[in-house]
Amino acid sequence: MKQHLLSVRDLKVYFRGRDTVARAVDGVSFDIRKGETVCLVGESGCGKTVSALTILDLIPKPPGEVMAGRVLFKGTDLLGLTEPEMRKIRGKQIAMVFQEPLTSLNPVFTIGDQIREAILVHEPVSPDELNRRCIRLLRDVGIPSPEERLKDYPHQLSGGQRQRVMIAMALACGPDLVIADEPTTALDVTVQAQILNLMQSIQESSEMSVLYITHDLGVVANIADRVYVMYAGIIVEQGTTEEIFSSPGHPYTKGLLASLPSRSRRGEQLHSIPGTVPNPAYKPSGCPFHPRCPTAVDACKVRFPEMIDHGAGHLSRCPVVKQ
Ligand SMILES: Nc1ncnc2c1ncn2[C@@H]1O[C@H](COP(=O)(O)OP(=O)(O)OP(=O)(O)O)[C@@H](O)[C@H]1O
Ligand SMILES: [Mg+2]
Repeated sequence: MKQHLLSVRDLKVYFRGRDTVARAVDGVSFDIRKGETVCLVGESGCGKTVSALTILDLIPKPPGEVMAGRVLFKGTDLLGLTEPEMRKIRGKQIAMVFQEPLTSLNPVFTIGDQIREAILVHEPVSPDELNRRCIRLLRDVGIPSPEERLKDYPHQLSGGQRQRVMIAMALACGPDLVIADEPTTALDVTVQAQILNLMQSIQESSEMSVLYITHDLGVVANIADRVYVMYAGIIVEQGTTEEIFSSPGHPYTKGLLASLPSRSRRGEQLHSIPGTVPNPAYKPSGCPFHPRCPTAVDACKVRFPEMIDHGAGHLSRCPVVKQ
C-alpha cells in the first residue's frame, strides 16, 4: 500500500459568532496517498471548503479557529508551522484551484505576469527559462497559441481557458498535491468534461495527488480513486469509488446517489433528499442526518454514530442500515 502524503486527523474548525459557535468542521479525518485522486463530496454548507482551506492555513482567524486536529503532510503537522514556513509549502508543494477563476486571477496583470509570479515566488529562474516554462505550462493545459495568450488579460479569455490558466499556475512548481475546490462548477458541461480530462491526464503523467471537492457525485464517478462523503461537518462514509457506488452504507450517500440524473430512468422523477444541511451553529443531536433520514430510529436522535468498518477501507457512520 502506498504511503500517505496527507493525513488529516480529527480536525475541528469552528467559527465564532456574537452568540453562537458554528461547528463547520467537527472531527474530520481523511488520507491521501501519492498519486491518488480523492474526492470530498457533500451538499452545500457541509464543510468541504473549510476543510480544504484549513490544510493551507487560509481560514480567516477570527472568526475561524482550529479547535483540534492535525494536518500531517509528509509527516509534518502543517498546523504547527509559522506563516513563512507555510508560504514555502503553499503553491510549491500543495497548490489550490478555486471555483471561480475570475476572482482568483488579478484583472490588472497579464496571464504571463501571473504565471511568472507563481514560479518566481518559489524558484529563482532566468527570464529565458521563465518564458519557456510559461509557454510549456500553457501548452500542457491545452491553451492554443501560448506565446500570444501570455500577453492577454484574464477578461480576454473564456471561462474554460481561465480555469486552464489556473490549473497551469497550480502546476507551475510541480506540486505533490493539488486541491481543486469545485473547479468546474462555473463552467458549462462540455468544458467541465474537458477540464476533468485534463486534470486526469496531468495526474497520470506526474504521480501528483489530487483532493477534488465537489457536490456532484457524477464528477466523482469519473475521476476519484476514493471518496469521502461529508455531512454537517463530519465524514459519514468513505471507501473506493466502486464500493461507494455499488454498496453505499450510509442513507445520506444513498440519497445523493438516488438524486443523480444518470441513475434514474427516463421519465422517472428525480429523487431529492428532503430538507437541508443544518446550520452548523444549531446541529441536531445524535446523528446530524437523522431529521432527513428515511431509516432513522429513536436511537439516532440521541446517539452519535461511530464509524463502522466494512473492510477494505470502506467505512460508514450508520448502525441502522445493513450492508
Ligand atoms: N468565514 C466564515 N465565517 C463564518 N462562517 C463560515 C465562514 N466560512 C464558512 N463558514 C460556515 O462554515 C460552514 C461550512 O462552509 P463551507 O464553505 O466549508 O461549505 P462547503 O461544503 O464548501 O459548501 P459549498 O458546496 O456551498 O461550497 C457553512 O455553514 C458556512 O456558513
Ligand atoms: Mg465550498
